[in-house]
Amino acid sequence: MIKAVTGTKDILPSDVFKWHHLEGLVRKVFNNYNYLEIRTPIFEQTSLFARGIGEETDIVSKEMYTMIDRGGTSITLKPEMTAGVVRAFIEHSLGEKSSLNKLYYISPMFRQERPQAGRLRQFHQFGAEALGSSSPFLDAEMIEMAYSIFTNLGLKDLVVKINSLGTPESREIYKNELRKFLSDKKDKLTNESKTRLEKNVLRILDSKAEQDQELLLNAPSLLDYLDESSLNDFKSVKSYLSSLNIPYEVEPKLVRGLDYYTKTTFEIISNKVGAQSSLCGGGRYDLLVQELGGKPTPGVGFAAGMERILLACENENALNLPQRQIDIFIVRLEKDLIYKVAELASYLRKNDLVIEYDYLDRSVKAQMREANRLNSKFVLFAGGEEFSRGEIVLKNLSDGTQVNFKLNNLNEIISRVK
Ligand code: HAM
Repeated sequence: MIKAVTGTKDILPSDVFKWHHLEGLVRKVFNNYNYLEIRTPIFEQTSLFARGIGEETDIVSKEMYTMIDRGGTSITLKPEMTAGVVRAFIEHSLGEKSSLNKLYYISPMFRQERPQAGRLRQFHQFGAEALGSSSPFLDAEMIEMAYSIFTNLGLKDLVVKINSLGTPESREIYKNELRKFLSDKKDKLTNESKTRLEKNVLRILDSKAEQDQELLLNAPSLLDYLDESSLNDFKSVKSYLSSLNIPYEVEPKLVRGLDYYTKTTFEIISNKVGAQSSLCGGGRYDLLVQELGGKPTPGVGFAAGMERILLACENENALNLPQRQIDIFIVRLEKDLIYKVAELASYLRKNDLVIEYDYLDRSVKAQMREANRLNSKFVLFAGGEEFSRGEIVLKNLSDGTQVNFKLNNLNEIISRVK
């Protein structure tokens, strides 16, 4: 039997309504903040991600689904959206049409990671990117939007972590200090961190290994090396979050796994999803547009993992969604009434009612069972004496009451059911 590829998941009809709910909420919140949707292709030229995300990152060096197409071009399934959104922003000169572009997306992403709970190879993100302003209020707005989506879903056990990575110049000074600090402890670092010492020393900070974290206890803090403008912006982000009553923790080791960040970075963590606890992550990337060939344009954004969010909802017993119901199940009392029933169903469906009837020639008892299984609000009985008199019986399944309606006045049924 052919099965789904490791790390991919089917979303079955019994679950899809949770996704609809989440997607609906995401669209509503982004709309309230005046973000407009952007859709970019599932695959891009590989060089976009290599340049945008950074050659040394885990995503680019180990996790991308890359292939050579029949024309000999190296293409990659998108592992994240920011690079693609920035590419589209430059390609379509969006910056010339509007000085601030507030964009959002909902899309599948692909990373060849080791699958586990909350970590897939095809997963889904929603996210936002604001291009054209360096205001720290936009940084806080990103956190506010993500936080309000999560709390609206009923999630409670959340921690907002924020940090500032400063400018490349201030960061370079810090990186040298960190390297100096770790150089005489090199032998005690894990092998992975040893290799990062030269090429990507900042990433040692978010190593999960205790051995590394112990060595880092007295390491210099990135926040002590921030330049004045980064420091001021960080202060503004913090005070705006406080004024919005969003609790946060400053985490000077939050460096994130993508190379494009400058100044603010943040993550929102749920304590209810196990090891893969980061529900969303983001930050400012003031140099990315330039690096990808556009005019200097500051940017900030975030993305959230939808599988993780739904997992957190499940584990917190949040997301109390109403059960799916249909409006009417039409029970056919006589087999040869199929044309009549189909006609009736068609009329009612055109009037925005959710209608089901029997296509399997089941007995009346089995049709009633099906109506209950489908959680139908009403049944209509097609057939019998009433039917031959030009009437039809509508039964309310929640209280058992029955009312007769004239078949030539179906609008009365529609207003009763709606
Ligand atoms: P990221 O931290 O790589 O950031 O991913 C954001 C979120 O996507 C994570 O917090 C997590 O919830 C989810 N996620 C990542 N990998 C997986 C996976 N393998 N399985 C399930 N969920 C996953 C970015 O992608 C940046 N583009 C965010 C950003 C936007 N920064 C600025 N703008």
